[in-house]
Amino acid sequence: MAIILILLICGTVNLVTAQVADFLYPFNHLSSQLRIVGGQDASAKQFPFQTGLYISYQLKSAFCGGSLISENYVLTAAHCLEGALSINVVLGALNISDESEPGRQSQTTTSYTIHPQWDSSYYKNDVGVVRLSSPAILNEYVQKITVASGVDTYANQQGTVIGWGKTYDDQQTLTDILQYVSNKIYREGNKGFCQGDSGGPLISNGVQVGIVSFSYKSCQVSMPSVFARVSEFSEWIKDNTDIV
Ligand SMILES: *[C@@H]1O[C@H](CO)[C@@H](O)[C@H](O)[C@H]1NC(C)=O
Repeated sequence: MAIILILLICGTVNLVTAQVADFLYPFNHLSSQLRIVGGQDASAKQFPFQTGLYISYQLKSAFCGGSLISENYVLTAAHCLEGALSINVVLGALNISDESEPGRQSQTTTSYTIHPQWDSSYYKNDVGVVRLSSPAILNEYVQKITVASGVDTYANQQGTVIGWGKTYDDQQTLTDILQYVSNKIYREGNKGFCQGDSGGPLISNGVQVGIVSFSYKSCQVSMPSVFARVSEFSEWIKDNTDIV
């Protein structure tokens, strides 16, 4: 009897695990900000499109990543923008804690658009754009990135995720220096992202192919990292920004 019970419990657990793996259900909403694990320090000007977003909501604040896609727009995740009251946009940063570093541009905006089919229950269409209050000044520290379009899934290609998120589970603050990690797309191992990297870019061959959407609750275990596929949203992005 005891053995049967254990088997049943194991069977149930396996079923749940299989569902999670098959459908990539997001974990609970509170842990939906993501960060890079096992990455390395970026150097100044290496990822000039990388953007930091300090976002204020009614009862809390959060940090998300983003990417500059035109002088006037930053691409990020819908779940970062939902309920946002104001957004402090930081461009050209390497050490996110160093407000006086060369090349940095910072401004505050309240203007953004979330994908109308954003579904917070299933993390579908996790895409949004932030409109800058004044145009970014493009230079060696601040550049825009091209967003992917077309039908390429980028499966099995090398991708690079970039962000300032925490680098291990118990870390309380962001990592000062921008981190990046390269991995095969859709085949993430121990390296990935965790809290703080949400909304940041996944790039491949100099083009943005993904937006950091969600991962699993623990940052240190081997679990898939999930990105919104930018090419599927290229028309929406064009319609809602000034990129052509
Ligand atoms: C980042 O900048 C802050 C503020 O200037 C400084 O205290 C910190 O040491 C810097 N971090 C690194 C890793 O250089």
